[in-house]
Amino acid sequence: MRILFLGDVVGPTGCSAIKQELPKILRKENIDFTIVNGENAADEGVGITQNIVDEFLSCGVDVVTSGNHIWNQKETQEFITTQPRLIRPLNMNKSMPGKGFTIIKSKNGMKVCVLNIMGNVFMKKCDDMFIVLDNFLSNNSLKNDYDCLVVDVHGEITSEKMAAGHFLDGKASLVVGTHTHVPTNDARILNKGTAYQTDAGMCGDYNSVIGMDKENSIKRFLKQSSEKHFPSKGKSSICGVIAEISKETGLANKVKSFIHGGSLRA
Ligand SMILES: [Fe+2]
Ligand SMILES: [Fe+2]
Repeated sequence: MRILFLGDVVGPTGCSAIKQELPKILRKENIDFTIVNGENAADEGVGITQNIVDEFLSCGVDVVTSGNHIWNQKETQEFITTQPRLIRPLNMNKSMPGKGFTIIKSKNGMKVCVLNIMGNVFMKKCDDMFIVLDNFLSNNSLKNDYDCLVVDVHGEITSEKMAAGHFLDGKASLVVGTHTHVPTNDARILNKGTAYQTDAGMCGDYNSVIGMDKENSIKRFLKQSSEKHFPSKGKSSICGVIAEISKETGLANKVKSFIHGGSLRA
């Protein structure tokens, strides 16, 4: 069972790379299930629209995860309630629409649970990530409730994401961080069999500041007159992780980071 997880898709350049390249990647890498983080996919580089979710699904994506920018587009609060393949962080306030995890059947008949959680350090206020994960694990387990569990840990700091990886070790198939937009070089299988990478990186233009126009971003840091951040328009890299998961145990046999095209090369 081969799972592809792609990091935050940023703006139109990221979306068109997914549209053009993903079908080829899925064939070449023999992928059974695909997850992308879509929190920056809208034209402005924040949030996601219904059309973009539909476009992702039509080119082979199975589940779209998100993060702190999930509500930046007004329409999302409505359509998320009717789209089980788009999830938001589980530890957001319970009054928010949408779900924090979803269970979807893969093309090869496996029940894949995808869970989205947000870190607590340097992030918007949300419930304690570890308590919420602990509650989830006391009610759900690998091979009983699903064949695979993939967790998108959307967070700013490496230590918190790494602790989440070890906390989930043996209980999740794959734990991948998102949000920093920079891929880490630490793809590995943890002691009890969970595949892990601290951050997946982004699907966006790396000739930028985390996917946003670099000149404008520098002006903002210099406190010179500038515009709101907007996505960089150069060619997009596609960054993520590929994990091979055992159908018998739901744990990982192999994991590797994945970087394709654009200005960031492995
Ligand atoms: Fe992001
Ligand atoms: Fe984020």
